[in-house]
Amino acid sequence: MLHSAVLNVMIKAAHRAGRSLKRDLGEIEHLQVSLKGPGNFVTAADHRAEEIVREDLAKARPDYGFLGEEGGARAGSDKTHRWIVDPLDGTTNFLHGIPHFAVSIALERDGAIVAGIVYNPANDELFVAERGKGAFLNDKRIRVAARERFADAVVACSLPHYGRGDLALARYEIAAAQKKFAGLRRYGAAALDLAWVAAGRLDAYWERDLAPWDLAAGSILVREAGGFVSDLDGRDAIFTKGEIAAGNETMHGELLRLLKEAGKRASQEASAETAAS
Ligand code: IPD
Ligand code: CA
Ligand code: CA
Repeated sequence: MLHSAVLNVMIKAAHRAGRSLKRDLGEIEHLQVSLKGPGNFVTAADHRAEEIVREDLAKARPDYGFLGEEGGARAGSDKTHRWIVDPLDGTTNFLHGIPHFAVSIALERDGAIVAGIVYNPANDELFVAERGKGAFLNDKRIRVAARERFADAVVACSLPHYGRGDLALARYEIAAAQKKFAGLRRYGAAALDLAWVAAGRLDAYWERDLAPWDLAAGSILVREAGGFVSDLDGRDAIFTKGEIAAGNETMHGELLRLLKEAGKRASQEASAETAAS
């Protein structure tokens, strides 16, 4: 399949970083059994992958800015273009030898995402999208699921760790989603959650406390696959608020409604507790 020049650059970088991660994954399977564990090794693998991506992208487009999870922001002389990169999304999975992680690369032009790719080197699945050109998995066109019955829907979310995020709110949201949908999933790689919504595997997905590199490539994949993406208030501030809801029109709409309702119940409960104390 013919891709645009810029998409080819992104794909080449993701493949090279993916090969490095895949080699490192093999090593991790040995380290798993050592007492020291693979922690430091994973940090090195992560940095190595970002360096590969940065080098390849910079070689092809030396003027573009760069925002990477590991190296932070680097300004380019071209102020209109910026790469947004998570070299390893799904670090905890990777650390445990779970083959569900990805290299995520997006291109931003004048503040809007115009191209995105998410690549899982473990199973060689490559999701790509460019604005106005559709979304593809390994060169086959993908679309969000057409499912309309909530009782048939499978929805991904996060399970916030103790001490991080608003746990009480998360419990209300998860309980509401458990009642409404057929199944909830926590896969542990935000970029792949979005890619899987784009591919119609998941009907919807929501999460809070995310960074732009978790969301940038995945968000264009969902939109180009005909889906809806917004922050949890239904607006467009996914990057500034670090939160996202995605799905087809019906699932996305219902998810927003359900989360709003859960938020109300959580704050009523919090006020009742304060009044009683
Ligand atoms: C994480 C994953 C995970 C999400 C976390 C992210 P990382 O990214 O996307 O699914 O729940 O909030 O930070 O740390 O593996 O790149
Ligand atoms: Ca990430
Ligand atoms: Ca990461």
